[in-house]
Amino acid sequence: MMQAGNGVRDVQALEQGDRLASLGALIAGVAHEVNTPLGIGVSAASTLQVLAEQIRQRYGSGEMTRSDLERFIQLAIDSSDLVVKNLQRAAELMQSVKQVAVDQASGEQRHFPLKSYLDGVVTSLSPKFKNTPHRVTVTCPPGLSVDGHPGVLAQIVTNFIANSLIHGFSPDRAGTITLDARADGGDIVMTYRDDGVGIAPEHLGRVFEPFFTTRRGTGGSGLGLYVVQSLVTRRLGGRVDLSSEPGRGVEFTVRFPARPAARAAA
Ligand SMILES: Nc1ncnc2c1ncn2[C@@H]1O[C@H](COP(=O)(O)OP(=O)(O)O)[C@@H](O)[C@H]1O
Ligand SMILES: [Mg+2]
Repeated sequence: MMQAGNGVRDVQALEQGDRLASLGALIAGVAHEVNTPLGIGVSAASTLQVLAEQIRQRYGSGEMTRSDLERFIQLAIDSSDLVVKNLQRAAELMQSVKQVAVDQASGEQRHFPLKSYLDGVVTSLSPKFKNTPHRVTVTCPPGLSVDGHPGVLAQIVTNFIANSLIHGFSPDRAGTITLDARADGGDIVMTYRDDGVGIAPEHLGRVFEPFFTTRRGTGGSGLGLYVVQSLVTRRLGGRVDLSSEPGRGVEFTVRFPARPAARAAA
């Protein structure tokens, strides 16, 4: 009995150490990535400061011309654009760390109906679909419920949908997303599909790696699917699989135990 208890504790300690090690690696990576946008943001903000001081002097001495003002306005727009874009990018990177780092124990644990919860998540994302031709449908048996932290499922679905909109779809062709949840024994199986451009075979094995992105420099952080994978394995005690072919969209399958008791025993 004692030994079994110790064994369990050892495994927990190991898992905890593993979790901290990979969190440490993630934070180191993010700190590195955050450096660039913060650096650009700081230098754009100081440029703005210098420009504002110059125009104040010219105005104060009565020497300011119309073209001084016009030049100032244009430069102020350009630099504040840079400040906003780069701070947003830094904030997004930090948000990914927060998503992974949220402590499992502090997460609200509850029993919730899956269908209405998933519908709610999709509804909350509807502003992202406004002004696009793309559509999402959720199918899930009404009686299905899950014990656990519902916020985790919201984060997973949000990351999938963001990816379909950014990577999968183009604005000129209506894209379709289906999210299908069902029970399989004690497990919940959630299948997420889009009919977008799909993923190249040489990228398939890499998309879950932290910082892997095909959109470096155009908004990608490469953390979305890494976050999905850590949430599924660490928070839900499940697994996520991907299949995709170029031109045929993506299919992510998330499988996890519906009850935490089953999760602990697994
Ligand atoms: N629905 C999708 N359709 C096509 N490609 C995708 C899709 N989802 C993910 N990808 C590919 O996987 C990569 C990694 O995704 P992710 O980890 O979310 O990082 P990011 O979105 O910041 O690029 C993306 O850069 C893209 O190449
Ligand atoms: Mg993404």
